[in-house]
Amino acid sequence: MSAQILKSIASRRTIYALKPELPTELSIKNVQATVQSIIKDVPTAFNSQGNRAVILTGATHKAVWDSVANAIDSPAGKKRPESVRDEAAGSVIFFTDDKVTEGLQENFPAFASAFPDFANHSSGAAQIDSWTALEASGLGAHLQHYNGYVKAALGSKIPENWTVQAQLCFGTPAAPAGEKTYIENPVDILE
Ligand SMILES: Cc1cc2nc3c(=O)[nH]c(=O)nc-3n(C[C@H](O)[C@H](O)[C@H](O)COP(=O)(O)O)c2cc1C
Repeated sequence: MSAQILKSIASRRTIYALKPELPTELSIKNVQATVQSIIKDVPTAFNSQGNRAVILTGATHKAVWDSVANAIDSPAGKKRPESVRDEAAGSVIFFTDDKVTEGLQENFPAFASAFPDFANHSSGAAQIDSWTALEASGLGAHLQHYNGYVKAALGSKIPENWTVQAQLCFGTPAAPAGEKTYIENPVDILE
């Protein structure tokens, strides 16, 4: 079993070349079920369950990414959000719920300064687990951080106290991931 998990982890790559459709065997409900399961099962500090996510597809995905592109002045800066708008089938938007973090800070003041980091760590786990799982389902995906722009574009569609953490943009892979190099980075056993 662990060999299968390690294979999925190694197979997760940044894939920018996407077609704006889902592979035939997948529906957006499958994507939703995958992300829902991960949001449920990824651990959080004190089991506080402050991860949130929404999935954008169709007209809403296009409108949000069009708004992000329009909010950026430089032609070079617009390129990635425009490619997400035109080439991705959808995007998972990850959030952390500030009310949960603030509640932890009130209840456990000794750890107060650590809780924002803990929220970020758990969100990162949800992001990368989702990336791994969606690619294992046949999607290509890449991770973006247009957080403030996405928050502005979503407006009242999401609660004010949800902080945008990342966007996982997905579609049918149109080309494989680029070559990746690795440093020598041994994990030693100290006895
Ligand atoms: C925490 C984190 C933040 C990242 N932010 C971005 C980003 O904002 N834009 C982007 O294009 N890629 C982003 N990436 C993708 C990395 O550049 C990529 O994962 C790395 O180069 C390794 O390549 P791989 O994903 O193909 O293994 C991010 C990855 C991680 C883990």
